[in-house]
Amino acid sequence: MRDPHSFSRPDQVSVSHLDWLAYVDFGTTTLTANATWTLDKHSDRASQVIFDMNGLHITSVVDQDGDTLEYSLGIAMEGRPYLGIPLSVEIRENTQKVSIGYTTSPNAAALQWLTAEQTRDKKYPFLFTQSQAILARTWIPCQDGPGVRFTYEAQVEVPPGMLALMSAENPQHISEDGSYHFKMEQRIPSYLMALAVGDIAYKPIGRNTGVYAEPSYVDACAWELADMQDMLDQAEGLYGEYAWGRYDVIVLPPSFPFGGMENPRLTFATPTIIAGDRSLTALVAHELAHSWSGNLVTNANWNDFWLNEGFTVYFENRIMEKVYGKDYADMLKVLEYNDLSATVEEFGKSSSDTHLKLELSDRDPDDGMSDIAYNKGAYFLRLLEQTVGREKFDVFLHTYFQSHAFEVMDTETFVAYLQEHLIEPNKAAFEGIDINAWIYGPGIPDNCPVVVSERFNLVDSALAAWKNGTPPAELNTKDWSTHEWLRFIKSLPDEITADQMTALDQAFSFTGTGNCEVADVWYELALHRQYEPAYPAIDTFLCAVGRRKFLTPLYKAMIGTESGKAMAMDIYKRARPTYHYVAVNTLDAMLGWDQEER
Ligand code: BES
Ligand code: ZN
Repeated sequence: MRDPHSFSRPDQVSVSHLDWLAYVDFGTTTLTANATWTLDKHSDRASQVIFDMNGLHITSVVDQDGDTLEYSLGIAMEGRPYLGIPLSVEIRENTQKVSIGYTTSPNAAALQWLTAEQTRDKKYPFLFTQSQAILARTWIPCQDGPGVRFTYEAQVEVPPGMLALMSAENPQHISEDGSYHFKMEQRIPSYLMALAVGDIAYKPIGRNTGVYAEPSYVDACAWELADMQDMLDQAEGLYGEYAWGRYDVIVLPPSFPFGGMENPRLTFATPTIIAGDRSLTALVAHELAHSWSGNLVTNANWNDFWLNEGFTVYFENRIMEKVYGKDYADMLKVLEYNDLSATVEEFGKSSSDTHLKLELSDRDPDDGMSDIAYNKGAYFLRLLEQTVGREKFDVFLHTYFQSHAFEVMDTETFVAYLQEHLIEPNKAAFEGIDINAWIYGPGIPDNCPVVVSERFNLVDSALAAWKNGTPPAELNTKDWSTHEWLRFIKSLPDEITADQMTALDQAFSFTGTGNCEVADVWYELALHRQYEPAYPAIDTFLCAVGRRKFLTPLYKAMIGTESGKAMAMDIYKRARPTYHYVAVNTLDAMLGWDQEER
């Protein structure tokens, strides 16, 4: 089965190891690099090996002896520029390695180059990569599909005074000469290749866990993520040994477009989880869970994305339950359900984009990143758990991860495995349960498990009291976490008045809050209700934070009206240069931004 998002033909010749040498040049914002791939030939007649690349400038292609190899560059497919082009290298019988010299483009999608001014400590520039889903090809010529795994070693040269980190065995101190060596001994797919370079310090948390961040931030980050070791230990208790040695997190500058990215051994995270009260650590549980679901058992291609994300959301919640208790985990589940129904509503109840198994073959795989894969996936697994009981389901999942470690999984193979190992042995319990309706059908099936949150019931009571005239300051909100505040704000009536919003703001200081999750939902409401006192803070927020999940709803809320659209364009014009490619790509399309408006 071919990967629809890769030109490579690993069925003919695949790669098994990468030796990467790179010079990181902040002056030209390019990497000058050499990628030496060890080949695995699957046929004696194989005469070429094909790599994916996008925007790379190739300077040389040689074999293990330094002898020149012929190569050709293909042309981009009409309407699918995101795929880049194939690089086909002619190989001979004695060709064991292909060594490609190249330079990246200054606007390589995977690379974000930040000026010193865009960092927290403002002393050094910063670089980070984001390879998932198909952006690795913009910084390394590679067989860029999740079905091809390889080990790697790297030698990376950066300006003196800076630290370099990869999804590999990492240094904990800045080297004198700016030279770093990396080794990843477990086989990983290209979308887990990662690099970060900056003024970065390290602080340990537990036995095999720690945090990297800019020096002035590392203590705050370590405090916030203090439960990481416990999470890792609990995760191992659930589904088996952690396969990757160390688990560290790097907290990146705010333009990182995602919440987190599960780069092996080193999760990349947004600083928006550093809320000051440890209330947003579920993100770490999520990225950590990917060490099993995704990094160990990997979706075969991006149409099977739910096998990565749905399993991870399920597993994340199990870790959160272990570490923070059932009432805490229940809040997260209810929020997930609400987001899921909103997404189904938005896509349309019969839209094929609400199937777990997606059809993205003719589309950018980034389109698949919705609450469907994540939350419908997790609720499907909760249905399985509810059907056979937690004990049996845990044995099933544990065995699933261990028996498919370092392999790929597609939806059809998973369904067959599920039939054999869970459904057949528990036939009676599964009577009347239609698995296919969840996987190949739309919307949220009727048998979706119902979760009730005790803590949210208290929020709902407070809300009812407020509606009946209790002043905000008298509501019992003392022990509320971020999640309770989200429940509260999201449940405020659509027709809320400016006076009511002012009173809430006076009592709870929503406008200007440092908690980005709370800010995001409050600002969305403010835009819908044209609550102008929040506008300056919205402007500041959109210029400071680049996490796409926060940006899209706010810009969307603005473009509904003529004046809102003008406001959106004014802010976007200033903020766009600070956003990552991933966010810009989404927002350009949403706002109808055209290059001339720059
Ligand atoms: N692997 C994803 C991020 C991703 C998915 C990047 C698809 C590119 C393409 C990561 O594990 C993730 O799911 N991040 C979430 C956080 C999470 C707590 C749901 C995010 O960034 O919001
Ligand atoms: Zn994820």
